[in-house]
Amino acid sequence: MSEATQIVAIDGPAGAGKSSSARTVAEKLGFAFLDTGAMYRAATWWALHQHVDLEDPEALVESTRRMELQMEDTPKGTRVLVNGHDVSDAIRTPEVTRVIFRLDQNSAVRRQLVELQRRFGERQPTVAEGRDIGTVVFPKAKCKVFLDASIEERAQRRARQLEEKGAKVDLEQLRAEIHERDEKTRNRADSPLRPAEDAVILDTTNLTFDAVVDEIVRLAREKL
Ligand code: DC
Repeated sequence: MSEATQIVAIDGPAGAGKSSSARTVAEKLGFAFLDTGAMYRAATWWALHQHVDLEDPEALVESTRRMELQMEDTPKGTRVLVNGHDVSDAIRTPEVTRVIFRLDQNSAVRRQLVELQRRFGERQPTVAEGRDIGTVVFPKAKCKVFLDASIEERAQRRARQLEEKGAKVDLEQLRAEIHERDEKTRNRADSPLRPAEDAVILDTTNLTFDAVVDEIVRLAREKL
């Protein structure tokens, strides 16, 4: 198999269900799973931890270069280690999410992380999810899926996830936050969120989780 045939690329906006469905698709296909958002989150956590000036793009590039990142898939989710610290939970905090755009809009930071993502995908058959997998990271992937859902549905899914963890949720505020992140990722200059020309667009608004997984597995088997 060549590099291009071993990749399932899953992109889409925040809250479209990429992570959970991509993980299950990877299990069903026997492929590795790569959560690229976790890599941007890890680099952001590391910059905060090192007290890097977030308004200094060069300093962010340098701190990302000094980051030693290990990611390990476990049944409970991706375990993320940064320079020996287990940051699996810390990278999901609002503190990280609020400032992540400083790194995900930095082209030199992106280049470093894209390089790591390509190396990961070259080593093993991989289901990779993110925002630019089909357009930038693996443009030759044979199976590309763009998962979308209405903003109401995405806000409600996020709310359910947070409530399961015991958090109190303001649905209107969640919706506004998702809208703001959508705008930032769709309108940025480098690697804006958009479906690759050869991606299959799957609107999951009215689909169950199992139906989404089954459809991606079917597409992967058909195309790879
Ligand atoms: O999927 P997520 O919410 O964990 O992603 C975190 C942030 O990283 C999000 O603001 C978009 C960005 N991201 C990106 O720019 N490119 C990727 N391939 C994955 C995530």
